[in-house]
Amino acid sequence: MSGYHHVLIVLSVTLSTIFNDNIYLIEALNNGFSVELIHRDSPKSPFYNSSETQIERMNNAIHRSINRVKHFYPKEEGAYYEVIQAPISNINGEFLMKYSIGTPSFDVMAVADTGSDLIWLQCQPCEKCYNHTDPIFDPSKSKSYKNTPCSSQACRLIKNNSCTKDNIESKCQYKVSYRDKSVSSGDVAFETLSLGTNVTNFHARFDRIIFGCGHNNRGIFLPKSTGIVGLGNGATSLISQLGALIDNKFSYCLAPEPNIPSLLNFGEKAVVSGSGTVSIPLASSRSPTYYYLTLKGMTVAGKRVDFETKVAPIDKFTGNIIIDSGSTLSLLPIDFYNRLESLVASQIKSERVTDPKLLRPPLKLCYKSSASTLKAPPITVHFAGADIVLNQPNTFFKFGDGLMCFNFNPSNDISIYGNIAQLDFLIGIDRQTKIVFFKPTKCKKL
Ligand SMILES: *[C@@H]1O[C@H](CO)[C@@H](O)[C@H](O)[C@H]1NC(C)=O
Ligand SMILES: *[C@@H]1O[C@H](CO)[C@@H](O)[C@H](O)[C@H]1NC(C)=O
Ligand SMILES: *[C@@H]1O[C@H](CO)[C@@H](O)[C@H](O)[C@H]1NC(C)=O
Ligand SMILES: *[C@@H]1O[C@H](CO)[C@@H](O)[C@H](O)[C@H]1NC(C)=O
Repeated sequence: MSGYHHVLIVLSVTLSTIFNDNIYLIEALNNGFSVELIHRDSPKSPFYNSSETQIERMNNAIHRSINRVKHFYPKEEGAYYEVIQAPISNINGEFLMKYSIGTPSFDVMAVADTGSDLIWLQCQPCEKCYNHTDPIFDPSKSKSYKNTPCSSQACRLIKNNSCTKDNIESKCQYKVSYRDKSVSSGDVAFETLSLGTNVTNFHARFDRIIFGCGHNNRGIFLPKSTGIVGLGNGATSLISQLGALIDNKFSYCLAPEPNIPSLLNFGEKAVVSGSGTVSIPLASSRSPTYYYLTLKGMTVAGKRVDFETKVAPIDKFTGNIIIDSGSTLSLLPIDFYNRLESLVASQIKSERVTDPKLLRPPLKLCYKSSASTLKAPPITVHFAGADIVLNQPNTFFKFGDGLMCFNFNPSNDISIYGNIAQLDFLIGIDRQTKIVFFKPTKCKKL
């Protein structure tokens, strides 16, 4: 037993010497690993509200989706979507994941967000913390916690970094601001981070992960929100930091019901292959954070609408739609949307009704119908690289008793391929080859 222990210690010392300032893996990865993605409306989620009806949950998800658009390009004015006055609380996504941080390890349940990069959580001592129902991480109690100096490489990776100087050391600071004026700021630090749960029966531990230790967190965060795990394409995201250790690959499969577990897979486990798999190149974009694709058009009942908009291309980049698991709805430019809507509406016999929930803006295309009587036409989405066929569960959602609404809606802001359109697809992103894989899959079978 003690011999075994000794080998382990030698191994980690060797690794730390070889990788020196980089992250290294303490435990073997075998062939990749998976963690559970917890839908925020699942009973396992701290946000779960047992007195909400399914319709109220959907209604709230739609509101969050609309508010999230504001978070993407915060400076853009005159956007079609107005800011809704409902409690905004949290716009960073629909799925949560568990991880542990520090030594001894401290458990965190955070929002998993493909639309942002930095990992951050609330930290003691709190200059200002939102009222948190769980304990708050105290870095002074962790043996593996290390602040990063202003001069470090890690600090240069942080957007909006700044520097505090006291007598002893210079400390790198981060600050993230959201459209609803929520702000988290604090120290940029290194910590040991562990992933894996009993469900997936795997634990992987990584050393020297850069994260934001938030000592000053103001705004409308939900009391149970414990921060963000950024899964974006930028340098500080979890995906980029794990980098070669996960072959720069991750995949996820979003299940149609909050109660069915969804998985987030890394490394070998994230390889998407087999019958029905298509590959679509990641497109270039202004933003290092978002995963962009190029949408060429859509076909409904043999008629195609091309993605040409009256708005002139803003720049030389080819990406025109963000694939985002944190938005419920999908958004398209207004004139493209209108042409698509005419085609879809021409194929549906049910009675069209205006959105009775009076969302601002209202959902554009709703029918008095049940899921079984609607009979929506399949929509073929033409991306540069491959086509994807969306059937009714990816195009319409139940929004009340006897009410079905279209997942695609107009926006003059940005285009988003949201999570309804992604349900029951295994979606893999390979950052090395810059390819996104799609495979129709019943997610619950994973
Ligand atoms: C839970 O849902 C009910 C019904 O919508 C609502 O009245 C109540 O405010 C919610 N509770 C919380 C803590 O959000
Ligand atoms: C924070 O939450 C606790 C428990 O829910 C409550 O007792 C306390 O009054 C709250 N504090 C503030 C400042 O809201
Ligand atoms: C960076 O800081 C500026 C000024 O404080 C702020 O307006 C901007 O929103 C910040 N950017 C991000 C991504 O938080
Ligand atoms: C996970 O396993 C550990 C150790 O076996 C146990 O103490 C813990 O309660 C388990 N957690 C869950 C959520 O099942």
